Amino acid sequence: MKILVTGGAGYIGSHTCVELLENGYDVVIVDNLDNSSEKAVERIGEITGRKPVFYNADIRDAKAMNDIFASEKPGCVIHFAGLKAVGESVQKPLEYYENNIGGTMVMLDAMRKNGCKNIIFSSSATVYGDPAFVPITEECPKGNPTNPYGRTKSMLEQILTDLNTADPKWNVILLRYFNPIGAHKSGLIGEDPKGIPNNLLPYVAQVAIGKLECVGVFGNDYDTPDGTGVRDYIHVVDLAKGHVKAIDKIKENPGVKIYNLGTGNGYSVLDVIKAYSKACGHDVPYVIKPRRSGDIATCYADASLAKKELGWEAEYGIDDMCADSWKWQSMNPNGYGDN
Ligand code: NAD
Ligand code: WQD
Repeated sequence: MKILVTGGAGYIGSHTCVELLENGYDVVIVDNLDNSSEKAVERIGEITGRKPVFYNADIRDAKAMNDIFASEKPGCVIHFAGLKAVGESVQKPLEYYENNIGGTMVMLDAMRKNGCKNIIFSSSATVYGDPAFVPITEECPKGNPTNPYGRTKSMLEQILTDLNTADPKWNVILLRYFNPIGAHKSGLIGEDPKGIPNNLLPYVAQVAIGKLECVGVFGNDYDTPDGTGVRDYIHVVDLAKGHVKAIDKIKENPGVKIYNLGTGNGYSVLDVIKAYSKACGHDVPYVIKPRRSGDIATCYADASLAKKELGWEAEYGIDDMCADSWKWQSMNPNGYGDN
């Protein structure tokens, strides 16, 4: 089966393309390189020995999308493309709604016109808002995301569900990711954020390599074991493998399915800094700062449904995640070098 991967040059997309190619799928990437590098596409080829087809195209471009679907005829779409910076989305709501929601509408229309009705969507634990309970099962009610980015995820989940209601031939798998970190074991692909990172792991990695001075820990007065925020960090390769399992599921014409992709373990900010210090061989300096607005205390998954229905479960622990992140960071101190 041919899989069309939007955002396939990005962080999670590139790792997923590697797993798809290694599992025998043909891969077509559509990415406008807004937050990624074509070098990632080359590296996917280097790792797997199979170069994916690559279109430098924008999912908002109806003609380009129609032409690509008409000529490639993919059997399924994995839809990663979108903007993802929480803080930026508060400043630029129109850009986020236009890119994430508008872009997805254009792409879905091209899919429909060309008879492709299987889609796996990158959703997020952010749709749970401040979760009603932890560990979070898929039954946990959706909450109020605190920012436009999170709202685009929540709305897109609803739009995709509505599509299936209108036409049950649509199969939709909503994958709610927890906190993806780490990099491919080869050290050839990894996360390459533009500017100062917003997320914890890339920030810690850049302090470890000496590009930034010190990690600011956003609050140590949460109701958690050490007072710092607790999250379910998941190795990006485990996450990528979850997508391959989701393709197996979509072949069964399942209608709409929702799965949490997490490890089920929560680690605090200080746990992560400690694990990273071990991985890089020296202490990573940090200082306690005030809480960051919109943050919650604790978020981790109950991932047993994915185990039961997809036969997927995360294999890597926090030490592997930090070791692989450090390998990528130290082999590529400036990422792909074109940011
Ligand atoms: P990323 O920014 O590395 O990848 C997204 C890719 O989409 C980039 O390569 C970007 O160039 C491309 N893109 C953006 N707008 C586009 C457009 N209009 N047309 C074509 N390509 C476009 O981000 P990521 O971390 O790999 O995230 C992938 C997906 O997973 C996103 O939808 C994100 O919201 C979601 N997600 C990410 C996380 C996380 O923590 N990284 C957590 C939950 C969900
Ligand atoms: C993790 C923990 C921070 C940076 C975000 C999005 C979410 C999803 C994943 C896409 C928190 C603390 C962070 C720093 C810190 N993305 N922290 N110092 O906020 O759990 O989730 O990314 O869907 O939607 O909200 O991830 O990595 O930003 O933060 O102390 O410099 O690290 O307070 O406790 P978060 P994060």
